Amino acid sequence: MIFSLSPQALAQFYRLEVFDIVESTNDLAAEFAKSGDSGRLWIVAAEQTGGRGRRGRVWHSPKGNLYASLLLTEDFAPEQAAQLGFVAGVALREALAELLPEKLQKESGIFLKWPNDVLIGKAKLAGILPEFITRGSKAKQRKNAIIIGMGVNVKAAPAVENTSLYPIANLAAWDKTCSPPAVFAALSRFWAENYALWNNGQGMAALRDKWLCHAAFRGEIIHLNHKGAMLSGVFAGIDDFGRLILVQENGEKQLISAGDVYFGAAAKTRPK
Ligand code: BTN
Repeated sequence: MIFSLSPQALAQFYRLEVFDIVESTNDLAAEFAKSGDSGRLWIVAAEQTGGRGRRGRVWHSPKGNLYASLLLTEDFAPEQAAQLGFVAGVALREALAELLPEKLQKESGIFLKWPNDVLIGKAKLAGILPEFITRGSKAKQRKNAIIIGMGVNVKAAPAVENTSLYPIANLAAWDKTCSPPAVFAALSRFWAENYALWNNGQGMAALRDKWLCHAAFRGEIIHLNHKGAMLSGVFAGIDDFGRLILVQENGEKQLISAGDVYFGAAAKTRPK
């Protein structure tokens, strides 16, 4: 498989390293960061042996899907990692919207599920793992970096640990011509465009509005596991930090920064 960056990404000085097999592209990106890489580096692998998902879960990574991580080395604040997860969600959705047949998009829709999943209809197609790291040992030399890992089910739809209550989708079921290199090229283009729009956080409001246009379950009752407790309420939107706004039955508004959202039948059998 031959992966390449889009002209838009090349024009903005992104670079690409491609591997046949790695443990985790996020871990490899962290190694690049620690050895002083200058950032804007995409790492793509055909297969992962230790792929990681959110909340310490395993991300099964057989050949045929896309596994990509982007290393950014600007001097970020930790909360910007969460914002960049939303930039990635918007970029990935736009990439898929460009590639997938219009008929599918009209019939099923491509949605963004808080915080960082991409769905086709109600089935999970892709997951995003933003991570904040510090590099350099001495306090004065310490620098931050953010790694944004993205996994897209192109050929296979492996069960996701603890979210097996959800249907999992793969692109091949909808469009046989979709390949990991095609998804990656489009992703690298829409990432470059949306990262420029985000503009170090100054464009977060515009980015959030884009995200909300395609948000799954907005205005609907959702169930959320948050710090070991189950909360229910209406998903009213997200704030500028990407926190989920939940309006509970008593009218109380809660801002949630991490958790798993359950809906429909899955909500009745969700893991405790
Ligand atoms: C999720 O739990 O939904 C996030 C999954 C993120 C998986 C991607 S695959 C590329 C990168 N490398 C990893 O080990 N994880 C991310």
